Amino acid sequence: MIRKFFQVALSGTVLLSSTAAANDYASDAEIQQYIETLTEMGFPAPKEDQLVHIPPTMEDLEDADIHPELKRVIRRGYDLFTNTQQLRGKNVFNNMNCSSCHLGAGRVPFSAPIWPAAVTLPDYRGKNGHVNTLEERIAGCFAYSMNGKPPAYGSDDMVALATYHTWLASGVEMYPKQSIYGRGFPAPERPGKLSYANGERLFQEQCAVCHQEDGSGLRVDGQTVYPALWGNNSNNWGAGMVRIFTAAGFIKNNMPLGQPHSLSDQQAWDIAYYMNSQERPQDPRYTGEVKETAEKHKNFHQHSMYGKIRESDGKLLGDHDNTGDKPFLKPDNLRPRSFE
Ligand code: HEC
Ligand code: HEC
Repeated sequence: MIRKFFQVALSGTVLLSSTAAANDYASDAEIQQYIETLTEMGFPAPKEDQLVHIPPTMEDLEDADIHPELKRVIRRGYDLFTNTQQLRGKNVFNNMNCSSCHLGAGRVPFSAPIWPAAVTLPDYRGKNGHVNTLEERIAGCFAYSMNGKPPAYGSDDMVALATYHTWLASGVEMYPKQSIYGRGFPAPERPGKLSYANGERLFQEQCAVCHQEDGSGLRVDGQTVYPALWGNNSNNWGAGMVRIFTAAGFIKNNMPLGQPHSLSDQQAWDIAYYMNSQERPQDPRYTGEVKETAEKHKNFHQHSMYGKIRESDGKLLGDHDNTGDKPFLKPDNLRPRSFE
């Protein structure tokens, strides 16, 4: 029965024989174990008809029966994903690695695992109003979350990243009809009122030890130890994380690091509200006027503090020309499409 509902690709755990290939399915017992571990940590159990997939690990890759050249490219994609700082100054202009937000190298549920993009795209995306490929989805995170410029479509770096995403989806059908368990950063229900003061206090108590009192994080020898939550070295105002519900979902499910679900829903929302009321590099879609930009991208910015007044000091957020370390506003290789 359960097998009917839970489709799982290679898990790489002890229950599988060493001959397992990437598109083998895990046993029912293994899926159950996976779900039990997550529910014990406070995550919800999957709904009956949800798709549950355990992405393969880099150890599984070594045993996989695929061409050695494909393995090499997947390893390169993994390396770029987890150490994106190697593209600093070229494609990345802040302190982020892709894995700063997509924890566990993009494999972890409730931390926006990246493999769903490989089986649900190409598809229409409201953010830019056209059909996007996997490469374009990756480009989006470069332009906004990395405050950068995406590697060219079809370039070695882009192909390596896309290949890594697709490998993690091994065994999942294309365009699955079921909803995907653990996709995105599911937000807890929004409380009636958000408190900036409470968010600030909780941030100083629970987060500043790693991310610093001023949210700037910690960098040692050119390596990011703790990523910046705001300021020049964080994501820009166009990134998904600036939506308060997305940040609340991320925080509730993932922070403080190693203690998911330790904060109440109210606490996660208050901290997200505080964190997202701080300044960061300009939205690459900036028209030169913050209120106009916020209005133009209302579907997105109705969920952020961009173009709104910070209650603690009356500051209009996002009202500046600062692009952080990036010497341009908008990458020149993001383009509209019309198929006309
Ligand atoms: C600042 C945090 C952050 C960083 C850094 C980041 N992302 Fe994301 N990413 C997000 C958010 C937020 C979403 C949207 C999740 C949602 O829909 O709730 C997302 C979504 C995605 C998706 C789509 C997942 C799906 O379910 O379809 C892919 C693929 C992705 N990111 C790839 C990348 C890559 C590649 C990098 C590095 C170049 C990167 N991300 C860096 C925050 C980040
Ligand atoms: C023990 C250290 C630690 C603590 C405490 C901690 N974090 Fe993090 N946080 C990290 C690390 C490390 C990452 C990046 C994950 C990675 O690189 O594997 C991260 C990533 C993040 C990110 C996504 C990347 C970014 O810069 O936007 C956010 C948002 C975040 N943390 C918020 C918080 C909040 C809010 C708290 C307090 C509730 C908190 N963290 C507490 C270590 C910590």
